[in-house]
Amino acid sequence: MRAIICREHGDLSVLKLEDVPDPVAGPGQALVRIRACGINFADSIMAAGKYQNQPELPFIPGSEIAGDVVALGEGAAGCSVGDRVMGLPGRGGYAELVAVNVNRLTRLPEHLAYEQAASFAVTYGTSHVALAHRARLKPGETLLVHGAAGGVGLTAVELGRIMGARIIATAGGPDKLEIARAAGAHETIDYLAEDIRERVKALTGGRGADVVYDPVGGDVFDASLRCVAFEGRILVIGFAGGRVQQIPANHVMVKNVDIIGVNRPAYDSFAPDVSRASQEELLGWLAAGKIRPLVSRTFPLEQAVEGLKSVVTRKSTGKVVISP
Ligand SMILES: NC(=O)c1ccc[n+]([C@@H]2O[C@H](COP(=O)([O-])OP(=O)(O)OC[C@H]3O[C@@H](n4cnc5c(N)ncnc54)[C@H](OP(=O)(O)O)[C@@H]3O)[C@@H](O)[C@H]2O)c1
Repeated sequence: MRAIICREHGDLSVLKLEDVPDPVAGPGQALVRIRACGINFADSIMAAGKYQNQPELPFIPGSEIAGDVVALGEGAAGCSVGDRVMGLPGRGGYAELVAVNVNRLTRLPEHLAYEQAASFAVTYGTSHVALAHRARLKPGETLLVHGAAGGVGLTAVELGRIMGARIIATAGGPDKLEIARAAGAHETIDYLAEDIRERVKALTGGRGADVVYDPVGGDVFDASLRCVAFEGRILVIGFAGGRVQQIPANHVMVKNVDIIGVNRPAYDSFAPDVSRASQEELLGWLAAGKIRPLVSRTFPLEQAVEGLKSVVTRKSTGKVVISP
């Protein structure tokens, strides 16, 4: 099969298209012909060798896929050859085939296209676990979402709206803010041109945001700490801005602030019930048309690295997908 392989760590130039042997479904696994693979910012972190759960070299990036089951390994129960599935193999998605443990696969709802199915689990799963399970977001609370037109950010806007929050979305530039507004944001802040703290204070009558969803980090986190409400919660989602912030404990103490870490994949290993319940609720909302994954661009496998480049250089909105 054809696949994008990472044989050394570095920038995106280390990712190369190669012909490699087809994977084989091991015990408890299904072999899936990939129809779509969601691109995630984390794929670039893995290529750099800096991911929290770093695979050994060489590896094929791509953590979420959708496709068709074409073979089953010994003892693989719960799906059949020919099933349309979506799944979280963790890696191996930038390819034509992948072997996945069947307990990491879900049969696709009939109406759902492969591209949307491959754009669903990581982004919505992260935002749902963060807002519902970790922050316990309540109706009427103010939710400040950073990077709100990006992969995870846009889903936080959509889910926050469903949960009844008042959403303030930040992003770089008017076009991105328009996308956040269309997904449900009530107010917007262009953080390339406006001061986050001043605008949030003005929009909340000086009170600040109850919950902050932060996949950007660095200066954006620092500004959030200055405009989070008394007893507010800040969700640490990621560091797309490139700097991992240091947290001044005195600020946390003075305003009774909770800084809440969120590592969605860890739930698959340490609390699979939380992942499962979250996915079930999300699939219900998807079936009811309450949430709509935004796939802004699709790339063929041979241009997968271009697709990933568009994500890390802030050119993408919503999700970018590989379609082998
Ligand atoms: N904790 C978890 O379980 C979990 C799960 C999924 C993702 N994440 C993390 O969340 C972050 C976002 O992931 P994603 O897949 O949503 O990525 P994405 O689609 O690229 O979104 C990231 C957003 O960050 C903003 N940004 C600000 N400064 C940036 C910079 N210097 N470079 C790139 N983007 C910048 C961009 O929006 P503007 O241009 O509007 O500023 C962009 O839309 C990553 O750090 C990822 O590792 C964490």
